[in-house]
Amino acid sequence: MEALSFRKPLAATVLLLSSINMNAATKLTSTDFGKTPDGVTARIYTLTNKNGLEARITNYGGVVVSLKTPDRNGAMADIVLGFDALAGYISSPSPYLGALIGRYGNRIGHARFTLDGVEYKLAANNGENSLHGGTHGFNQKIWTPRELPDGGLELTYLSKDGEENYPGNLKAVVVYRLTDADELKIDYAATTDKDTVLNLTNHSYFNLKGEGQGDILGHLVTLNANRYTPVDAGLIPTGELRAVNGTPFDFTKPAAIGARIEQNDEQLKLGKGYDHNWVLNGGKALSLAARVVEPSSGRVMEVYTTEPGVQFYTGNFLDGTIKGKGGKAYRQRYGFCLETQHFPDSPNKPKFPSTVLKPGRQFHSTTVFKFSKS
Ligand code: GLA
Repeated sequence: MEALSFRKPLAATVLLLSSINMNAATKLTSTDFGKTPDGVTARIYTLTNKNGLEARITNYGGVVVSLKTPDRNGAMADIVLGFDALAGYISSPSPYLGALIGRYGNRIGHARFTLDGVEYKLAANNGENSLHGGTHGFNQKIWTPRELPDGGLELTYLSKDGEENYPGNLKAVVVYRLTDADELKIDYAATTDKDTVLNLTNHSYFNLKGEGQGDILGHLVTLNANRYTPVDAGLIPTGELRAVNGTPFDFTKPAAIGARIEQNDEQLKLGKGYDHNWVLNGGKALSLAARVVEPSSGRVMEVYTTEPGVQFYTGNFLDGTIKGKGGKAYRQRYGFCLETQHFPDSPNKPKFPSTVLKPGRQFHSTTVFKFSKS
């Protein structure tokens, strides 16, 4: 398959500009969010749209700290897992709550890949594999913030040549917007000065009842995907694109997350639940990836993306040891993630859409989380 999301710089610039004018009403304010152990002050930005939806985002890891949306009666709740203070994100980086993930989101098998004949060895931070960019991924970096005239928040991070052993100085620019159409819109762009690989995503854990309000098993999920990528015991794709039809992975029609999650299925056992990449049916254009309905609150979230895949992860590794906002314990399956992405282990899977970025090209992708009611 050819690369799906790499465009020439000019096209990407036009795309970014065209999205700016639409959202002029978003309000953006900021304040300090605490200091990192290195003494750097992180900021936190509050984006508010005309309907009162509110997203708070810090330039530490680009984390979406809170996201308030209304239920069917208009009552607001914070629907993402997270911490009240910066210290929580620093002391518990590994569940990646709300963070931007890079340089390579999800796993690279055996923590190595070969590019242009050179083998790059990565930190094995997930068994023998590399997960979410290595020991100090983009989720642990201070990004350079810029408030955009339209109320968007631009975050820039320069990942130096050799950081976490990836080749090339990679400049990543992520823009968060909260539009008046009740969308949290994320635009990702990147350039490099040497051939490299990248896979950028956001790792928000959602609970549409409200964070900390129990498990997510009753949420009804639809995924616009006829196939998924089954994995081995280390959660590395085998390379097969398997039909979901007739399996617990079939979310082509709405199904409760909990309806089949405990079934005696080899892939569910390997993931301790859902922790797999679905192959999206949409093409290169921004297309529907997922729709989630929470019946008790009436909150609905749709996910649109230009990416070819989505990691649907049901918080299987949360175990209650993390105390989140207000001291609430985040137990198993208290949140789900829809991480739009290229497929895991693509650098070692030549048949998957390419994650190689070359100098002179600009990577660009867009993901939209759109909120409504039922
Ligand atoms: C991703 C992975 C999971 C897990 C979480 C973080 O979703 O696929 O296996 O590592 O991140 O805990």
